[in-house]
Amino acid sequence: MAKHRIAVIGGDGIGPEVIAEAIRVCDAVGKKLSIQFDWNYLPWGSDFYKQTGAILPKDGWDVLRQHDAIFFGAIGSPDVPDTVTVHHLLLPMRRKFDQYVNLRPAYLFDGVDSPLKNPGKIDFLVYRENTEGEYAPVGGKLYEGMAAETALQTAVFTRRGCDRIIRAAFEAAMKRKKVVTSITKSNALVYGMTLWDEVALAVAKDYPEVTLKSLLVDAAAMDFVRKPSTFDVVVASNLFGDILTDLSAMVTGSVGLASSANINPERTYPSMFEPVHGSAPDIAGKGIANPMAAVLSAALMLDHLQETTGAEMIRSAVKLVLSDKKVVPPDLGGSATTIDVGNALVAAIG
Ligand code: NAD
Ligand code: IPM
Ligand code: MN
Repeated sequence: MAKHRIAVIGGDGIGPEVIAEAIRVCDAVGKKLSIQFDWNYLPWGSDFYKQTGAILPKDGWDVLRQHDAIFFGAIGSPDVPDTVTVHHLLLPMRRKFDQYVNLRPAYLFDGVDSPLKNPGKIDFLVYRENTEGEYAPVGGKLYEGMAAETALQTAVFTRRGCDRIIRAAFEAAMKRKKVVTSITKSNALVYGMTLWDEVALAVAKDYPEVTLKSLLVDAAAMDFVRKPSTFDVVVASNLFGDILTDLSAMVTGSVGLASSANINPERTYPSMFEPVHGSAPDIAGKGIANPMAAVLSAALMLDHLQETTGAEMIRSAVKLVLSDKKVVPPDLGGSATTIDVGNALVAAIG
């Protein structure tokens, strides 16, 4: 029997609620396909911080490293600053474990309404750079609290960093429609983003079958709304990828359906799988969060663990429940609870 040891960080808010349902779905798949998931629940997050003064224990990174993958809910609490939660757990994890590929599929499922009048068929992948760019923790403050207070926030673009994420996007495009759209803002950000553009042109030379298109991020935002069906693989910097994937989530119906994988392709470190959404404090504890984004993130985890049949089984179950329209959570216009959706998915698998 195949076994996978998974670290589970439910985290804050709706994180643990949606993760619980995704784990039930994985276990249903495991039962069918004789896969054993050893879920190692780690109680890290805002409550842990309030109790211990740290968001994760001292040996936390070593503990995580011993797993085949990390399954993550969300982090962030209204009563704990994001500089504690996000900056001591989520963002360092992406960097420490060199999870430089942030893969975020944008897919309009049958049975889901897009807010667009004529969305067409939406099916593209966003490859977001995940370890540097605008998120590099480089900068500082001068004269804090004084009239002259000054904040410096420096973006970091390296040739290696641009090359490896753009190359990952081209590799993905080779298995799809062979079109990569690279998104920058090199008309305004003339150092980092022109380096990105140069590297994109160089990488494209290694993939003569793939068409490279280039868009400025403002125009890309327009086209995500105006003609989302024309994209195949999109590659963008850390910040642009973040913003554009909330936009693609909404264009494909809801952030409650948007999945993501934070991948270390070399497998030197565990990769991490989490929904695109956050801890949603406005609906936390109400039992109404859509768990499908977490469930589809679990499918990406199974892809990474080379359990492709299991991953497809999960995606088929999601497709079935969505097209059936009998169990519809509030974000998609219905009144089903988180657990109702989990039950429907487990039934679809069983
Ligand atoms: P959010 O994604 O948590 O919520 C935005 C909106 O989407 C809210 O109205 C929320 O109710 C809704 N929503 C999100 N997920 C949903 C789901 N599964 N089903 C139905 N509705 C859903 O973004 P925010 O409010 O800007 O952030 C809240 C906290 O989460 C902040 O502390 C932020 O830093 C953090 N955050 C964490 C992650 C992460 O851990 N990966 C990601 C994004 C935001
Ligand atoms: C995401 C989140 C994070 C990001 C936040 C919490 C720092 O919005 O995973 O999309 O911007 O990467
Ligand atoms: Mn985001």
